[in-house]
Amino acid sequence: MSHADDHEGTRRDFLFYATGGAGAIATCAAVWPLVNQMNPSADVRALSSIRVDVSDVAVGTQLTVKWLGKPVFIRRRSAEEIEEARSVSLEDLTIDAESRNENRPGTDAADVNRAMDEAGEWLVMMGVCTHLGCVPLGDGAGEFGGWFCPCHGSHYDTSGRIRKGPAPENLPVPVASFVDENTIVLG
Ligand code: FES
Repeated sequence: MSHADDHEGTRRDFLFYATGGAGAIATCAAVWPLVNQMNPSADVRALSSIRVDVSDVAVGTQLTVKWLGKPVFIRRRSAEEIEEARSVSLEDLTIDAESRNENRPGTDAADVNRAMDEAGEWLVMMGVCTHLGCVPLGDGAGEFGGWFCPCHGSHYDTSGRIRKGPAPENLPVPVASFVDENTIVLG
């Protein structure tokens, strides 16, 4: 191959990758354009609390609700999911070792610091990938049995912690609490 051919090939490759990359970003932007608003300020949150009836959420399933324009995953985890999440040591959380839980700021990413209740049955998280904002797939998706973001291949475990792929942080846990046995308030 001549030098000119080689140069042409390189240029073509560059154009191909540049086009592919732009396409991937455009797709993600279409899926979830509000990534830069993932952490609304406290005053916005206070005005926007919602109550969610979780009485119909069976063990091992999740409810997705829309809050502040974004999806929130409310998962009622099975015993296996809880066991899996709690058996992970902090040393294995090499991408993000912080809880990212607004209810327990400054704590590490041990599952007890991310779940809502002591037993760990309820996990509430923003359903927005921390890479570029796509909505991850749930119900045991991905290599760690939690959530998987197909946009660029980010794998989250059963505690919503990023374990593999380009996403830099665990799925954030918003302000949330039980007001009675069947009702969670977000915000
Ligand atoms: S948006 Fe890129 S991996 Fe999720």
